[in-house]
Amino acid sequence: MFDKISRFSFPTQITFGPGARKLLPEHLSTLGIDKPLIVTDPGIKNTDILTAIEVVLKKSGVPFAVFSEVQANPYEEDVVSALKAFTSSSCDGVIGLGGGSPLDVAKVVPVLAVNDGPLSRYDVSTGGNLQIKGPLPSVITIPTTSGTGSEVGRCSVITSASQGSKFMVCNPLMMPGQAILDPELVVGLPSALTAYTGMDALTHNIEAFTVEDFHPMCDAIALKGIEFVAQYLERAVKNPGDIEARGYMMMAAMMGAVAFQKDLGAAHSLAHALSSVCGMQHGLANALCLVPVMKFNMEISAHKYAEIARCFGIDTSVMTEMEAAGEAVEAVEDLIDRIAIPACLADAGVAESELPLLCDKAFEDSCHQTNPRPCTKGDLMMLYRQAYGKKTR
Ligand SMILES: [Fe+2]
Repeated sequence: MFDKISRFSFPTQITFGPGARKLLPEHLSTLGIDKPLIVTDPGIKNTDILTAIEVVLKKSGVPFAVFSEVQANPYEEDVVSALKAFTSSSCDGVIGLGGGSPLDVAKVVPVLAVNDGPLSRYDVSTGGNLQIKGPLPSVITIPTTSGTGSEVGRCSVITSASQGSKFMVCNPLMMPGQAILDPELVVGLPSALTAYTGMDALTHNIEAFTVEDFHPMCDAIALKGIEFVAQYLERAVKNPGDIEARGYMMMAAMMGAVAFQKDLGAAHSLAHALSSVCGMQHGLANALCLVPVMKFNMEISAHKYAEIARCFGIDTSVMTEMEAAGEAVEAVEDLIDRIAIPACLADAGVAESELPLLCDKAFEDSCHQTNPRPCTKGDLMMLYRQAYGKKTR
């Protein structure tokens, strides 16, 4: 009990509610940003979301520039290109607009605006992230999906083209100065992406809660985040215009990212490899790996999973801890079934011949190191095999 020092940190200011985007000029002024660079992707550029933000800025007479070329699972070259736009347009702050990819790029542009490149030198796995010097230009994040939680996180996940794998840059200096969560910006998100990103949020909350570390604040947030996903994800998938469901899913995503300052687990290592090797959408990858990982962790994490079962509204009062834990796994499987996620990796287009490379990449990923049950490379292969075939139950 209390055998080590813990650190708790929840510093990002969050503005939430339908129409919250209209407060953007006020937040720019508070943070001292005179000319922001909007960092987004081609998908957002082709919707009216970018227009909605531009209208708000133009109405207030705020000059701005736009970089809209961020790729999915963004590469170092995306960051370099965004930095060029930032410098050539004489910007002094960044607005990240979009899903996890634009937000992750938006958060590291200020790193390279002040610190020498390449970005990979600040990889958290080498301790390079501790070399980042500030102060950094301020960032405002405006998410248009509800999954990554990058809007309140201190990390960015970037793909190295030369290594063919992802690396993470994390530093408290990268915390956005303001996150604007406006459910009206999410109603146009297609059902499949709503389901995938929602499963990313669920995986964050479950894995963070399951990490064996002393952080009762994050644990409480994670449990509430799980409850919101259990109640609202299916509604958001099936009724895209349901502002209440969209709002609670935005909350669940943000809460998952706050909670995972505790760390994540094996599902994220498996998912990161699926994205870097197969280009799979991150939330879908988590959805396909979460249940096998929960079953793998079952005995060690039964006491935690029993609490998760209660988040799904299951009365566990007459159950043993293991029975309740089993109900939690089943509840997650049922949710996945109801929101039309592919049944397995094979159905999602992964070739069986890719499993050994995936396994190598997943083992190199650091997330599994905080999984409650230690993972060998063989364990990760077994988990991929379970996720590969049809249903494991
Ligand atoms: Fe994630």
